[in-house]
Amino acid sequence: MAFLDKHKKIETNASLLLVLAFLVVTIGGLVEIVPLFYLQNTIEKVEGVRPYTPLELAGRNIYIREGCYVCHSQMIRPMRDEVERYGHYSLAAESMYDHPFQWGSKRTGPDLARVGGRYSDAWHVDHLTNPQSVVPESVMPKYGFLLHNMIDGKYIEDVMKTNQMVGVPYTEDMLKNARADFAAQADPDSDYEGLQERYAKANVRNFDGQPGISEMDALIAYLQVLGTMVDFSTFIPDKSR
Ligand code: HEC
Repeated sequence: MAFLDKHKKIETNASLLLVLAFLVVTIGGLVEIVPLFYLQNTIEKVEGVRPYTPLELAGRNIYIREGCYVCHSQMIRPMRDEVERYGHYSLAAESMYDHPFQWGSKRTGPDLARVGGRYSDAWHVDHLTNPQSVVPESVMPKYGFLLHNMIDGKYIEDVMKTNQMVGVPYTEDMLKNARADFAAQADPDSDYEGLQERYAKANVRNFDGQPGISEMDALIAYLQVLGTMVDFSTFIPDKSR
């Protein structure tokens, strides 16, 4: 056929094939990338999503330090089996303040994007201390030492400033109160009104159930907020975009 004969010219001439393939990839790339520069925002804003509190942020750093992401993803894909198991699929906005994001793809353990509120704090203490005591067949390592590592939030303001540099909207007020908020969240007897004004619906509890603030407190504060910021009983996706 005449058409195939013409194509034969391209397929038998490496330089011509290279030039034409390059052209096709260039056009395809431009079509995909250029519009992104004209969109005001590639992430749909969603009500309820707020920056992490100082204690949650500290917990997130512990999560990263301990390599929890090696076995756990934090992204529920919009597929039926995932949504039935883990809940509403993850929205881009839900990880907009995550630097670096924790989406991942390795699931030795379950996805944690919506683990917040699913278990009690005490369950988390037991599970993190000795996973096999609550899930006998678990291959998750023990993290009991977190209970004995006491922390005081000395550096949390710096961590918040670093996050601010990459676009997390921590305000001056939040930075000024960083250490006070850090301590208040783990102490239900404290004056935590300011904390909850700055960070809507922040959980205030003695997460690890023992005196003082430990890394366990911070990590559980983080786990308990995961996937809970957006109220999905009222959430309506913006279909106009
Ligand atoms: C070697 C892989 C591995 C690592 C590392 C790991 N986990 Fe797990 N995790 C698992 C497995 C497997 C399960 C499922 C069995 C169980 O519940 O223990 C699990 C379960 C969980 C659950 C319960 C989730 C649910 O929906 O039932 C939480 C919460 C959790 N892990 C948190 C963590 C945190 C926090 C860290 C880091 C401090 C961590 N994991 C590190 C493998 C791992």
